[in-house]
This record gives sequence, structure tokens and C-alpha cells, in this order.
Amino acid sequence: MNILTVLLLLSSLSCGAFGAKILAIFHFPCKSHHILGSTLLKNLAKKGHEVTMVSPFPFKEKIKNYKDLDITGMLEYKEKYIVPKLVSGHKASMYDKMTYSIKNAKEVAELFLNHPNYKQLLSEHFDLIILNWSMNEAFLGIAHHFQAPVIVFSSIGASQLTNKITRNPAPYSYVPNLFVTYPDDMNFIQRMSNAFWSISFTLVDHFINENVQQELLTKYFPKAPPLQTLVDNVSLILLNSHFAIEGARPYVPNMIQIGGFHVEKPKPLADDLKKFLDNASEGAILFSLGTNVKSSHLPKEKLEEIIKCFAKVNLKVIWKFEKQFFSQLPPNVLVNEWFPQTDILAHPNVKAFVTHGGRLSTIEALHYGVPIIGIPFFSDQESNVADSVNKGYGVRLGYEDLTSESLKNSLLEVTNNPMYRNNAKLRSDVLHDQPLAPLDMATYWVEYVMRHNGAFHLQCASNQLTWYQRILLDVIAFMLFIISSLILILYFTIRATYRFLKKLLSKKPKKTDLKKKKK
Ligand SMILES: *[C@@H]1O[C@H](CO)[C@@H](O)[C@H](O)[C@H]1NC(C)=O
Ligand SMILES: *[C@@H]1O[C@H](CO)[C@@H](O)[C@H](O)[C@H]1NC(C)=O
Ligand SMILES: *[C@@H]1O[C@H](CO)[C@@H](O)[C@H](O)[C@H]1NC(C)=O
Repeated sequence: MNILTVLLLLSSLSCGAFGAKILAIFHFPCKSHHILGSTLLKNLAKKGHEVTMVSPFPFKEKIKNYKDLDITGMLEYKEKYIVPKLVSGHKASMYDKMTYSIKNAKEVAELFLNHPNYKQLLSEHFDLIILNWSMNEAFLGIAHHFQAPVIVFSSIGASQLTNKITRNPAPYSYVPNLFVTYPDDMNFIQRMSNAFWSISFTLVDHFINENVQQELLTKYFPKAPPLQTLVDNVSLILLNSHFAIEGARPYVPNMIQIGGFHVEKPKPLADDLKKFLDNASEGAILFSLGTNVKSSHLPKEKLEEIIKCFAKVNLKVIWKFEKQFFSQLPPNVLVNEWFPQTDILAHPNVKAFVTHGGRLSTIEALHYGVPIIGIPFFSDQESNVADSVNKGYGVRLGYEDLTSESLKNSLLEVTNNPMYRNNAKLRSDVLHDQPLAPLDMATYWVEYVMRHNGAFHLQCASNQLTWYQRILLDVIAFMLFIISSLILILYFTIRATYRFLKKLLSKKPKKTDLKKKKK
């Protein structure tokens, strides 16, 4: 009896000491990206924290310590306003893309902030907020409401949107913007273009997006301080990236790279799939354009070209598409609406991955060292694919150029030229060689922020400086002033001396005059 109470007491004590209440907001209706948040949260729940996940994708099964809060209506919004733009998205101008994203982000944010399920949360208490960062700066008001430290999660890795929080140095000279497709070692023209787009983006973000967000903040959190104060109060940023994936770049101490954390250990394949792949001694490829682009969005001609190519190549093909669209398929093709993508990529017979170049797919390919053929559609896909080309583990195939012939050539190039596989393997090795598995690292840093009450000692002093102080414009201006003053002083001294000497010399002609007179 006594021992039992002691044990009970001990266990409740240990729970109280380590279990924190964590709120995560992954509100955007993007299923594949939901995996990122839920993987992190499930691991935190496993460690004894009580987590609440706010998203449009509640789990069907119950998970211990894990509570789902369904944000209904998001998916309908997406189907109506976002999806129709996806396939045609690659044709829009840069400015249209930016303003369109801002408009979407605002409408989605309002949908969220008015949602009854979200509102009912506000009376609870939370020790930490994890916020998916997607032009939703106003949501920092939620962290302010709970007076809790906030961790920003960036599913696309670092970008200007995250760098502005920590003032992370990302010089335009060697850190390409999300909108360009340049390698890190840019030539003169590329650096100029990168600088141009980066500055344009900063201006659009500052003058349009931040105003929109400030309005939202004032409207929904009237007691909150100005947006910038809340941005400066962000404790840490978790980046879905790694130098094996994006290349080496500088990061301040409160930006942590955890790219690859969502890839779970491969599970055994279903029997038919296993047989299909085991039997693919000639090699197999996986073809998937992600969760957003469906076969119903692709015109019939394109689908026919793809099938024509598959019939011609000596490769087994696993194709993630809606089956009902096809009457007849070549025998080497297996079609289904869903496949366990990472488990397939883990199979040694898989020689290449035809993908839309979404960030998760690219990371999963690298995780298993599989080279890619990228057919980008929108958002960061273009730059992910360009990156694979620049780093030599992928080729790009434009959607407009997609024919049976071009697809076949790309497939043969990637499966026959060992360079692609070697480069993918190299990055895979680097990605796996880490002191702590990325998911453990993410968990460690989340707990670290709570242990150190926001861990503000990780912040660089740069957030107390204005932008021109940060790039030392004031110091340069001062130096220029001193130097030009010195030059001016020197100039006037020389001029005065010269005039003085000239005056002295100009007396001499009188002597010669005298001489002349003497003659
Ligand atoms: C998280 O934010 C990214 C933008 O950085 C967005 O693309 C993604 O859909 C968001 N995911 C969720 C589940 O909110
Ligand atoms: C800043 O974050 C801390 C916790 O990390 C919180 O207690 C404080 O209220 C926040 N400040 C503002 C202005 O929200
Ligand atoms: C293996 O593949 C060949 C064609 O590549 C096919 O003829 C054979 O039936 C397949 N075997 C199994 C067990 O699927």
C-alpha cells in the first residue's frame, strides 16, 4: 500500500517535472507538410509532453498525449481558390506570385483566427507554442496571449521570411533567393539578379505583407504590442533543411537545421509491391507529382505521352496517380492512388524518382541516395529542382516540354549516367553523418527553449540595430566623411601653399624685368 502510493507519487512528480503543454499550429491545408509538424509532435508526445496540434488533418487513431484540433473549412478553401492555380502557376509573373501568396495567406489566416475550435483554445494554458511559418506573422499574437515562448518552424528551410526574424546573415552574393534557380557560386549576372529579386522581395514583404499582418494582429489581438516586438521575441527557428541538402550557409545559434527528421525507418513493403520491385532487376523508377497535382489536373495528351514513354523504357514503373483515368497500361507499370513513398525509395532496385520537386520528396530522395527527374510546378519546387541540377543529382524536365521522347531521354540519362547516383549517395552519406538524429535534435532544442525560459541568450545583438547599422552604413558614411574631410583639408592646404608660392614666384619676374631694364 505504502510503496504503491510512493510509486504513484513519484510517477506523477516525474510527469509534472518533464511534461509540458505544447501547442502547435500547422493551419495551412497542405497534407504533405502536415507530416512535418505531426512527426515532431508525436515524438514530443512520446517524451511525455502533452501536445495539441491545430491543423485541418486530425489523425483517425488516438495517440497518447497527442490531441488534434480540427480546423474545418480550410480544405474547401484550398480546393476552391488555391488548387486551380497550381498547374498554371508556373506561368504567372513573380509579382503576381508574391501578391497572390500574400492574399491567400491573409484569407487563410482570417479563416483560422475566426474558427470556433481555435477560439476555444484561448482559455487554456500552454508552456510553448510551435508556429508553422507561412506569412502568418500575426499568429505571434497567440504566443503573446499565452505569454509563452514561441518556436517558429519553417518547412521550406531558411528564406528571407525566416532570416528577417533572427537577422541571419544571408548575403545576396552567395545565398540564392527562393525565387531564383542559381547555384551558391553565382557569377556576376546571377549575383546582380539575385540581389535584385532579394531586395524586391524584401520590399514587397515589408510594405505589403507586414502591413497586412500588422492589421490582422491589431484586429484579433488588440492588446498585443507592435508586430516587430513580437517577431523579436521569437526564441528559435527549426529549419527543414541541412547543409547536405542545400549547401553550406551561415546560421545564427537560434536557427537549427533538422532536415530529414520526418523520414522514418523503412517499413516492410506490401507483398505485391515487394514482388514487383524485387523482380525489377533492370531497375525501377517511382513517378509521383506529390499530393497537390492530381491526374485530373493534367490534360489527356500529357498523360498519353507519359504512358507512351513508359511502354518504351526497359524499367519497372511505380506511378502514383488516380487509377480510374487509364483504360490500358503497359505491363511494366503499377498505378495506384497512394504508395509508401519512402519505403519504395529505400528499395535498392529503385534507380530514379520522377517528382514535382517538393521539398519533402527531394529530401526523401536524398535520404536514400536516389537521383531525381524534376518536373516543377509552383512555389519552391523550381528552386529545389534547380538545386538538384546544380549539385549533379538530378535533371529538370519542364512541364511544357514533357513528351514521351523528352521523358525517356531524362530517364535514360539519370539511370545510365552514374554521376547522378554517386552525387545523390554522397549527399545521403553527409545527411546521415550527424551527432544526433535530426528528430532527436529537434526535440532536444524544443526542450532546451523551455528549460531556459525562451533561451534568449541565443539571440544575436543584431536585432537591436537598424538595417543600415547592421550593414555598417552609418560607420561607412562616417568614415567617408572623415576621409573626404581630410582630402578637402589636404586640398585646401596644397592650394593655399601653391598660391602662396606662386605669389612668391610672381615677384621674381620683377627681377628679370630689372635685368631686362639693365640690358
Ligand atoms: C507550413 O508553412 C509552409 C510555408 O513555409 C506551407 O507551405 C505549408 O503548407 C505549411 N504547412 C502547414 C501544415 O501549415
Ligand atoms: C516574450 O516571450 C516570453 C517567453 O519566452 C514571454 O514571457 C513574454 O511575454 C513575451 N513578450 C511579449 C511582448 O510577448
Ligand atoms: C518479373 O518480370 C518479368 C518481366 O520483367 C515478368 O515476365 C515476370 O512475370 C515477373 N515475375 C513476377 C513474379 O512478377
